[in-house]
Amino acid sequence: MKGVVLAGGLGTRLGPMTQVANKHVLDLYDEPMIHFPVRTLARAGVTELVVVVGRYGEQVQAVLGDGSALGVAIEYAHQEGEAGIADALARARPHVGDDRIVAILGDNLYQDDLRPFVEAFRAQEHGARILLKQVEDARRFGVATVDGDRITGIEEKPAEPKSDLAVTGCYMYDARVFEIVDGLEPSARGELEITDVNNDYVARGEMAFDVLPGWWTDAGTHASKLKASILVALTKGVTFHA
Ligand code: DAU
Repeated sequence: MKGVVLAGGLGTRLGPMTQVANKHVLDLYDEPMIHFPVRTLARAGVTELVVVVGRYGEQVQAVLGDGSALGVAIEYAHQEGEAGIADALARARPHVGDDRIVAILGDNLYQDDLRPFVEAFRAQEHGARILLKQVEDARRFGVATVDGDRITGIEEKPAEPKSDLAVTGCYMYDARVFEIVDGLEPSARGELEITDVNNDYVARGEMAFDVLPGWWTDAGTHASKLKASILVALTKGVTFHA
């Protein structure tokens, strides 16, 4: 099993800092954002990683190096521009071969140890597995509708979400994922959408899921980045004095 950390794109929503810095080296309390998804994979037992970087990618490489400080081994791949999460995933293909993958977004933070979910995926014969989280306002995310133990569909950033279950940024796929990405057309916003990849597995009845008990957040907007910083500080036992 290979881990793929998706840290491409332009991070426009975190401007103006991202005009001069890679989004994923910006700080969450006292550490660069990229530390968190890398550590999440390492904690789950996934230690052979491909990190896909975009503009100012050399800053991510300067922060992570070969990964040994975080207990992982890192190879790097490059994505030009902002052609979408599925496009970034495709850049990892030459490093992955026929392995299964656990992909994680470079701006996602998980409280939970993902090991049980990764183990459940290992036990699957094939297909994919995603992690859902109940959220107050799902409009900013991919949103899954669930019927019993089956996902019936996923909508990307719906104006009127059909459920409160956000699709979080950790995706487990069998080796067929790259063929699925090859067959994608860009969405209205010009990106190859990870939600289209996921819906392909849903349509084949091959998408398993878990609902996370712990907190989860992304850090891709100023508000969610601040929230992520506070969660990190609280986890580290920091107290805020008046
Ligand atoms: O955070 C979870 C959400 O992430 C999911 O619920 C959505 O279904 C999924 O589309 C995604 O939505 P966002 O709009 O939050 O994604 P964003 O464009 O902010 O990108 C998140 C990370 O993905 C980013 O930090 C790096 C990686 N990425 C993104 C793009 C657009 C790339 O590596 N390359 C890209 O071209």
